[in-house]
Amino acid sequence: MLRIERISKTFDPNSVNAKKALDDLSLIAEDGDFITIIGANGAGKSTLFNAIGGSFFVDSGRIVLEDQDITYVKSNLRAKKIGHLFQDPMASTAPDMSIIENLALAGMNKGMFSRITANDRDYFREKLKELDMDLDKRMDTPVRLLSGGQRQALGLLMATVNKPQLLLLDEHTAALDPGSAEKVMELTCRIVEDNGITCLMITHDMNKAIEYGNKIVMMDQGRIIQTIDKSTQKNITVEDLILSFRNRQGKDLDNDRMLLGI
Ligand SMILES: Nc1ncnc2c1ncn2[C@@H]1O[C@H](COP(=O)(O)OP(=O)(O)O)[C@@H](O)[C@H]1O
Ligand SMILES: [Mg+2]
Repeated sequence: MLRIERISKTFDPNSVNAKKALDDLSLIAEDGDFITIIGANGAGKSTLFNAIGGSFFVDSGRIVLEDQDITYVKSNLRAKKIGHLFQDPMASTAPDMSIIENLALAGMNKGMFSRITANDRDYFREKLKELDMDLDKRMDTPVRLLSGGQRQALGLLMATVNKPQLLLLDEHTAALDPGSAEKVMELTCRIVEDNGITCLMITHDMNKAIEYGNKIVMMDQGRIIQTIDKSTQKNITVEDLILSFRNRQGKDLDNDRMLLGI
């Protein structure tokens, strides 16, 4: 379980550019939850993930993962328990290293082993085969030669190679063509389900937020303004989300990307 208790974060606090990106935000993700997170550009979604991943320490509040207070744990130690995947497929892989080297590096960073053996190679070949993207036959190919979809599938495998307690997906299919995006989403659901990983997924696409996961969280101005539990509120539509935003915030969603799902 992930428990976030009243966290706040202000960037550049003592300057005219001071920006409160997280404002007294609390969130609970139960084991096995798959929560989709939506909100206009600048709502603080990525900042929330960066706070959980430990890119910076929050100004106040607490972050607890599986009963361990990780508020002041360094990011490299958090990475052993938390997988984090970004929109840019380049961000999670080393382009000049081969597929197998990238996987080995991910395994080492997550404390699985200190050097790769023939057994590990076989294990990873099997895992790559399961992705069904022809990566198992190209284990020694530099990652820069892969398509965006292949690279994001590899990133997904790297992020989950040690069965993390938590997976953070920050618009991880937004930069892919529709076919690859669908394939990567399918893999995401399979990996998350097979391993029972608790998952938070940011998406700008309200249809995706409705389609995937068991809860929807809507953010605005560094706060959570609504949580929808799909087991109690069934058949939610995009129109419901837009109306609900207007009712709560007294303004319209000002984000074409989010409204159009592009
Ligand atoms: N490292 C940073 N330094 C200064 N301001 C930042 C930083 N990261 C994010 N912000 C600001 O915090 C706000 C929230 O950003 P972000 O979390 O990226 O929004 P979202 O992912 O919802 O689009 C924005 O106003 C953004 O400019
Ligand atoms: Mg973002």
